[in-house]
Amino acid sequence: MTPVRRFSLGPQTALVLEQGDITRSDADAIVNAANERMLGGGGVDGAIHRAAGPGLREACEAVAEVRPGVRCPTGEARITPGFDLKARWVIHTVGPVYRGAASAAPLASCYRSCLRLAAEHGIGTIAFPAISCGVYGYPRGEAAEISLRSCREVLAAAPELREIRFVLFGDEPYAAWLQAAEALVR
Ligand code: APR
Repeated sequence: MTPVRRFSLGPQTALVLEQGDITRSDADAIVNAANERMLGGGGVDGAIHRAAGPGLREACEAVAEVRPGVRCPTGEARITPGFDLKARWVIHTVGPVYRGAASAAPLASCYRSCLRLAAEHGIGTIAFPAISCGVYGYPRGEAAEISLRSCREVLAAAPELREIRFVLFGDEPYAAWLQAAEALVR
């Protein structure tokens, strides 16, 4: 079993850092690092679609476009069932392609948007990947800090959220989130 660390992010919400494959998570909801078309892709997006089965793509196709080719604008989130996944829900969010300090706001918005949707659906446990830290090139250390600060900011609006998990795919992302958690969280 890979290392798992628990912290207290708020009065009734734990922060759990683990290493592994998010498609195997038994959280109520897993977060997908999608793109604005929201019809699948590579990285964690591809892994989640493969594990969820064809129903996920059909559910994504049914999500209304807000403008041609865009179902989920950067920084926003959409929710679908999880189909063949253990997780009941998939919350799709679109992180920014890293372009320096200006990318912090849309990345923070991803985490807030996902937690807002989780609160609306009474979700108790949610698992995030390292949004934007793959193809989209976000430096892990900065992304880790933004993720923890953003989640902590909106906890009060998600009273049913018991656990926020980060499922990191490899030693380096895990180390980045661990360093950020030890600096920011008790
Ligand atoms: N479980 C958990 N994390 C994973 C998994 C997995 N099975 N597979 C990849 N990751 C990690 C990557 O190692 C990276 O740390 O998810 C993080 C995000 O990387 P990407 O999946 O490349 O996502 P992102 O950087 O947000 O780029 C999104 O990539 O796949 C396409 O369609 C997607 O266009 C979108 C873009």
